[in-house]
Amino acid sequence: MNENIHNLIKTEYEKKRKLAYDKLLEKKKKIYNVIPELAELEDKIHAAGLAYGKLILSGKKSWDTEASSLLLDMEKYKNRKIQLLKDNNYSQDYLEPEYECKKCNDTGFVNDGGIMAKCHCYRQKLINYLYDQSNLSLVKFENFDTFNENYYPDAADEKKYGIKVSPRENILKIKERCLDFINNFDSPGEKNLFFSGPTGVGKTFMASCIARELLNKGKPVLYQTAPVLFTTINEYKYGFPGNEGFANDTAYRNIFEVELLIIDDLGIEPTSAARYAELLTILDTRHSNNLTRPCKTIIATNIGPKQLYDYYTERVMSRITGYFDRLIFAGEDIRAIKRR
Ligand SMILES: Nc1ncnc2c1ncn2[C@@H]1O[C@H](COP(=O)(O)OP(=O)(O)O)[C@@H](O)[C@H]1O
Ligand SMILES: [Mg+2]
Ligand SMILES: [Zn+2]
Repeated sequence: MNENIHNLIKTEYEKKRKLAYDKLLEKKKKIYNVIPELAELEDKIHAAGLAYGKLILSGKKSWDTEASSLLLDMEKYKNRKIQLLKDNNYSQDYLEPEYECKKCNDTGFVNDGGIMAKCHCYRQKLINYLYDQSNLSLVKFENFDTFNENYYPDAADEKKYGIKVSPRENILKIKERCLDFINNFDSPGEKNLFFSGPTGVGKTFMASCIARELLNKGKPVLYQTAPVLFTTINEYKYGFPGNEGFANDTAYRNIFEVELLIIDDLGIEPTSAARYAELLTILDTRHSNNLTRPCKTIIATNIGPKQLYDYYTERVMSRITGYFDRLIFAGEDIRAIKRR
């Protein structure tokens, strides 16, 4: 996924530079008609520049008489150019390409003490692409800035909520755990997260909060509900009418490779032995990837703790117990509270 994104970004910069250059040519054409001397000056600057370059290449130094007089000439022409622009009410950089980013001239890279480093605009682009590719549409609204623990009752009621502490205390603990997950994301020892709990208690919301923090750190995230995930796998493996197999290559690879995979609503997909075998492969592959580079998974499910073992095979469950920290979400259905 990363290679792909970097190529896309590179193309985007090339387009930007071409656009700036084309625009400059347009402007030159127009202004040369009005102020023909500018065209002459630009030609002279260009010619002097070439001559100077040749001298340096032939072994002359910049302080040699011939070379330094060329530099002086260029200086003179440039000053005359600026004066002409000023006299005609143009800004002095009117004949420079207008790049979107003045720091890197839309190359994406800046010279940082002799080392070529990614410009801040490159990072921003990367994040935008990551957002687009993450498949998370809610991340703009559902994040830690809009997190509100007041939706969770602050009275404990074990019978009702199935947990000893109040749902509010519970969600605040979960939040802490999730913040740790984000902070330790790169550590191979950090466990995956398994969210369980009834509908409407904020599992998808929390996954979205984590996704946004990681996306903002430049980490690729892929969000898929379980049915979509299994469809992606099927389409890749067996192809679908008119599109034999290839289309979802990237999506398929990402399921195994992306730094954070969120599988939401596990258990609502139709059950089949093949699907559990797929899930097993995903979990095992990601677990072994994670030993050498961040490859974490969040699973969310509505299925209650007692049904879990019945629903999934023993083998899947042993992976979930082994690779994941289970966080139990509890409380009222927030959607219903919001409607009231
Ligand atoms: N911590 C929270 N703060 C504010 N709103 C929340 C919070 N958690 C959930 N919500 C809202 O409650 C509704 C249900 O949450 P959701 O995450 O979809 O539940 P689940 O995935 O557990 O079914 C959504 O509209 C969501 O925006
Ligand atoms: Mg949900
Ligand atoms: Zn830049």
